[in-house]
Amino acid sequence: MGWSSHGRAHGLAAVFAVAVLVGAAIPCGLGAPTALAEQPPAPAPADAAIAIARLRAAVAELSSPQMEGRPAGGPGAERAARWIAARLAEAGVAPGGDPGPARPGEHEPGSPAGTGTDTAAPAGGAPALPLAPGARSYEQRFRFAWGVEVGPGTALAIGQPGGVAALVLGRDFRPLGFSANGEASAEIVFCGYGITAPALGWDDYAGVDAGGKIVLVLEGLPPLPSSGEPEDARRRAEALPRYGQLRYKAMNAREHGAAGMLVIAARPAAEAEGGAGEPELLPLGRTGMQGDAGIVAADLRRSVATGWRTAAGESVAELEQRIATARAPHSAPLQGVTAHLVVELRKEERETANVLGVLRGRDPVLAEQAIVIGAHYDHLGDGSLGGSLAAEPGIHHGADDNASGVAAVLELARVLAAAPPAARPRRTVVFALFGAEELGLLGSAHYVRHPLVPLQRTIAMLNLDMVGRMRKHRLHVGGVGTGEGLRELVERAAAGSGLSLSYDPEGFGPSDHSSFYARQVPVLFLFTGAHEDYHKPSDTADKLDYEGLREVTALALRLVRELDALAEGPAWRRTEGSPHGAAQARRGPSVYLGTIPDYAPAEGVHGVRLAGVRAGSPAERAGLRAGDVIVGLDGTEVRDIHEYTYALFARKPGERVRLVVLRDGERLELEAVLGRRGGEHAPAAPEGRPAGHP
Ligand code: BES
Ligand code: ZN
Repeated sequence: MGWSSHGRAHGLAAVFAVAVLVGAAIPCGLGAPTALAEQPPAPAPADAAIAIARLRAAVAELSSPQMEGRPAGGPGAERAARWIAARLAEAGVAPGGDPGPARPGEHEPGSPAGTGTDTAAPAGGAPALPLAPGARSYEQRFRFAWGVEVGPGTALAIGQPGGVAALVLGRDFRPLGFSANGEASAEIVFCGYGITAPALGWDDYAGVDAGGKIVLVLEGLPPLPSSGEPEDARRRAEALPRYGQLRYKAMNAREHGAAGMLVIAARPAAEAEGGAGEPELLPLGRTGMQGDAGIVAADLRRSVATGWRTAAGESVAELEQRIATARAPHSAPLQGVTAHLVVELRKEERETANVLGVLRGRDPVLAEQAIVIGAHYDHLGDGSLGGSLAAEPGIHHGADDNASGVAAVLELARVLAAAPPAARPRRTVVFALFGAEELGLLGSAHYVRHPLVPLQRTIAMLNLDMVGRMRKHRLHVGGVGTGEGLRELVERAAAGSGLSLSYDPEGFGPSDHSSFYARQVPVLFLFTGAHEDYHKPSDTADKLDYEGLREVTALALRLVRELDALAEGPAWRRTEGSPHGAAQARRGPSVYLGTIPDYAPAEGVHGVRLAGVRAGSPAERAGLRAGDVIVGLDGTEVRDIHEYTYALFARKPGERVRLVVLRDGERLELEAVLGRRGGEHAPAAPEGRPAGHP
């Protein structure tokens, strides 16, 4: 039997925040800046064609109970994708998804996909895009890591002088979701809380040899001695949460050469569960999806271990007590206790889809270029998979987030496709309804790897995410610093609209435009602001302002028109980060390197692939570049984003760090001097969501 984890319980928002926190911006490499030569805009479909009733109907449908909150990988999201595809078909835009099976006689065996010429002609008889043979679907399907399951090979046996006892999976132990697959057989060393934090004056590994052993560690945080000074208190408050994480403890055990790690609940936690009862073993959901820690690791029922003794006769429970009273580590090998731990975790994948429609440009030359209009259609389902801010379970309808954006994009597709041929955009327009955004921008990350029109020829991406709660005609526009002249372009588009716009230059942010910006596509991001129903079941259709949604849609239409009127696409610009700030002081560590980790996990290697480095940052001065994969920091292996943050934030501003990076298959060592966040060239991190919402 197996336990399922619905992964991501640790909140991608948190990882996102980290990603932003540790970085921003990409070397601007491409060509000379292009001037924004303007041409008279094409006669455009009238704003009047935008139908409030259709916007309302789309939101109502997508946020209805049948859609179950549209969780990626679930039936509700499949239903939503099919409904969206049907609307695109109805609108008369051509399918831009996966090629269907080759039609007999049309497909040369062996010819690479995507090089054939398809005849999936968009409405209006415009020449077709060069597409793969066969009828296309509207769906661009992709797989994603969804969780982990415990395989039947998983076992734990404990050897003691009296004999060997096999423990019961699920009752006595359960692997941690980030455990490596494999086995370890060794003596057990008690290593306190499993923390090495020199800056805090705490090292559970001091004086014990964990090399080749299985370490036994307590969950949570030790009672640290405190100097009582405010600076000291601040440092601790900053650093401690990370040291309490089991993923950190696994990394630390591995870095001390341990062969495996067993964790038990600490006593207060055990007592909190109600005296006699023991806390439940950690569900995989709480520990899954944090990468492979490179060491086998399992949670152990506390009472199995508390009686184990050291050579001096002290029990694990007594050692724990001693740590508490002395406020100091007290680690020791256990006498004659061995463990044989075998972990078999099966990664569970699921499938979902982006829904893509394409309207071929009317200009034979410019039609080779594209404007992408995007919105994610997935949401949080019943909230059990993470991301929810609700106290109570329930379907997260996601009317604003982001049925609103989808409704707007569908309406744009309909209006643009219905326009007389002479009023159609000169360039190709791709309508992209992304899946799995809530799980970490997965759909847009997939799209930019498999774009319908190559990204070099994608002049801009316009993202609509949460555009249904306009108040007082206020609209926020992000990304205006990502392309030359973009801000002026937005001003032109909005002239006379009565909208009151606020601008943010930043190209990175908590939605799909980020994936495009990281690939050097200029982006614009429209949203009407966060609200108290955000990521709660109460984000329902009745709360939206449909007249406001119409205004946003009308502005988007004008933006498309203005973009299409440019002789050349706006030259991509890296942004210097935006002046959000206050939140950073509350939440974040103070070191600053200036790297921007890529969202998608590095394929085939352990490490952190960089989407870019911030201009003028320590990372840039150290010579780090987009595409580099960071695999080590000061002798510590860095296997993923979690480990990167642990490694980095154990350091102080001003310290020199040695970074090991892989670049084009070579291993380089670079040296960086860490900056201070908030200091020179160290923009405070955004709050993980755009600032400026009302
Ligand atoms: N729609 C939100 C982002 C957002 C928040 C836009 C507030 C406008 C105002 C998006 O669906 C989301 O929830 N993003 C995640 C981050 C993502 C990388 C998983 C978030 O903000 O936590
Ligand atoms: Zn959203």
